[in-house]
Amino acid sequence: MTAQIINGKEIAKKKRSEIAKEVDELKKNHVIPGLAVILVGNNQASRTYVKSKQKACQELGMHSLLIEYPETVQESELLSKIDELNHDDAIHGILVQLPLPDHINEVKVIEAISPAKDVDGFHPINIGRMMTGQDAFLPCTPYGVMVMLEEMNIEIAGKHVVIIGRSNIVGKPSGQLFLNENATVTYCHSKTKNLEEHTKNADILVAAVGRANFITADYIKEGAVVIDVGINRNEEGKLCGDVDFEEAKEIASYITPVPGGVGPMTITMLMYNTLKAAKNFQSKLQKTK
Ligand code: GUN
Repeated sequence: MTAQIINGKEIAKKKRSEIAKEVDELKKNHVIPGLAVILVGNNQASRTYVKSKQKACQELGMHSLLIEYPETVQESELLSKIDELNHDDAIHGILVQLPLPDHINEVKVIEAISPAKDVDGFHPINIGRMMTGQDAFLPCTPYGVMVMLEEMNIEIAGKHVVIIGRSNIVGKPSGQLFLNENATVTYCHSKTKNLEEHTKNADILVAAVGRANFITADYIKEGAVVIDVGINRNEEGKLCGDVDFEEAKEIASYITPVPGGVGPMTITMLMYNTLKAAKNFQSKLQKTK
């Protein structure tokens, strides 16, 4: 079997054009969706991500505000900026780029963001809402994975989904979103024994390990859907995923490439969440009129 490639770039393009249309509609009602991004220090990867987020805002006609701080910034200064942004009607989404320097308490910073503006979906209120199946801002990467599967008409209910990785940003919420869609979910991680035995049972395998080409053909069941969330560099410095793509594509039924798979969906869902926050703001405005 040679797998069908899930083209994240194409799906992201389609979703972004839908978002751009909705942004235009909102603008007719004098609401311009606004995203504030806080960037601390000089982490090159963070800087690149933030640039892409700003570019996406510009392309979709959204307002974007970048607030930069040096590595030495005090936690209190960040918290007071977040408080100011929470009360700023031109800003509908607030994102603090992670990781933060060690002297800053990440949890405290995330919890300072108003849940109504938490477009990353990292606030405990949004995580709780997601877990209980209520309306919530969903974390962008797992949300992007779900949208890709939906676009490909890949059924989830009743499927056995195996997630490798248990980060708060990707692994844990991915499992929850699959559970919400009635999948049977297994979480694997660095302490899992006999990893292959678990992954070989997966109808849908989600790799969020952070190790280049770690998932070889031996880990994959014939006909499985393989979702590669990894972004790594191989020995030659080339961008690659957690899955050995060349091997896996001969076994899987569907597979996401790296680059051009899950990556483009993450920022797209951030834009979607910012639009949603702006729409929520507008409907509140209308109710108070
Ligand atoms: N650092 C790595 N990924 C992310 C993300 O999705 N959001 C934020 N805020 N920081 C990150």
